[in-house]
Amino acid sequence: MVKTSTSFICQQCGYSSPKWIGQCPNCGTWNSLVETVVEKVKGKGERVKRVQAVPVRLSDIKKDHYSSRFSTGIGELDRVLGGGIVPGMVTLIAGEPGIGKSTLLLQLAHNISFARLHLASVVYITGEESASQIANRAQRLGIKGENIEVLEETDVDAVISRIGQMGQIGLIIVDSIQTLTTSDLTGTAGSIGQVRECASRLTSCAKRTGTPLFLVGHVTKEGAIAGPRVLEHMVDTVLWFEGERSEVLRVLRTIKNRFGPTDEVGIFNMEEKGLHEVTNPSEMFLGDPPAGGVPGSVATAVMEGTRPLLVEIQALVVQSKLAFPKRVAQGIDSRRVELLIAVLTRRAGLPLWEYDVYVNVAGGIKIQEPGVDLAVALAIVSAFRDKSLPRGTVAVGEVGLLGDVRGVLQLERRLKEAKRLGFKNTVTRKEAGSVSEAVKKYIR
Ligand code: TYD
Ligand code: MG
Repeated sequence: MVKTSTSFICQQCGYSSPKWIGQCPNCGTWNSLVETVVEKVKGKGERVKRVQAVPVRLSDIKKDHYSSRFSTGIGELDRVLGGGIVPGMVTLIAGEPGIGKSTLLLQLAHNISFARLHLASVVYITGEESASQIANRAQRLGIKGENIEVLEETDVDAVISRIGQMGQIGLIIVDSIQTLTTSDLTGTAGSIGQVRECASRLTSCAKRTGTPLFLVGHVTKEGAIAGPRVLEHMVDTVLWFEGERSEVLRVLRTIKNRFGPTDEVGIFNMEEKGLHEVTNPSEMFLGDPPAGGVPGSVATAVMEGTRPLLVEIQALVVQSKLAFPKRVAQGIDSRRVELLIAVLTRRAGLPLWEYDVYVNVAGGIKIQEPGVDLAVALAIVSAFRDKSLPRGTVAVGEVGLLGDVRGVLQLERRLKEAKRLGFKNTVTRKEAGSVSEAVKKYIR
């Protein structure tokens, strides 16, 4: 006789307790006990609930047909999903509150409900906002929503049974996974146990019916992610929505994708009437007039996924009054900037220990690749000497600790994009083998 119940299981050692305790008495880890559904087998104690699998010959397994992929109607979203939505695909959209997750998903719901009007409706499950708040947002976006069903429900089992009664559904949206609960667990909404169990039940529902599912997951400012992180391994695709709330730019990044490449980005502007795709981002980041010709400004070409992107690096160097001069970086890793300052001090002979250094990537985008090193170094030197690089110059290269300029991946594609946008001079490893050589040649 098998009965299910719940237990608190230690995530470190598997110790099981009938009630929650702060520290695991077995391995001593704090806050590691998570409420989990378990099976109680008579006379055998308990075990985590599992379905027994049967082996299938590899050659007999039915393959997934990605050819049935369909477009979201939003090019930048298709790009990060790997070309569109696959039936039964489970996608997690994570991001800080207020970044625009609900807006994007409502726009998606509208597109799918239109494209698949004759097929099925879209279900928007809202535990976060009331149905009338969703309606207000829809009005702002100019969406009528004839084929979008809004379900105000926080009980995951009720959600699943309701979905089961609705016949064919084109898309399920859950906003957000942290508001859902199951009465099988006693934890509050948003606890790790609840989030995991609810997501697991919804995922199996999506896989069983072949319906694509989008889950919203909140991330807090401190990065304490009671939600998205525990779900990453359960879903097919994880998209990270980022940007500064005060600015219009929004970047959607693929963190994981079982149906396409990762590291792809989609770029949007949050405007008065929703999110608009930015199809030509380089022009936006370069500003008007394009970068260069001013001390402290150097253009560079980075790869964001498969797309080359031109951005402007700005630096400001001022005499410091502090014992430990300031190093402030925005849009780029500040440790990388410190390293480049050390290289410039040692290899190019700049007395930067007496100066505060500020580095900024214009336009509010965050860059995480070493190809920007050379541009950052040149921008700092240019600001320090108050001399500009020749107008129309783009610098691309990684800088090593020896002050050497290194090659980067896909240089050709980057330079081609730079050329298209009117950059005539390039500074790469070919033109200058070291930072000091680049400084001598281009900043006099
Ligand atoms: P929202 O989608 O509610 O964010 P999330 O679901 O991630 O919490 O978006 C919230 C912000 O976006 C809010 O500050 C208002 C702004 N916004 C616009 O600027 N334009 C719009 O058309 C909409 C709908 C929202
Ligand atoms: Mg929201």
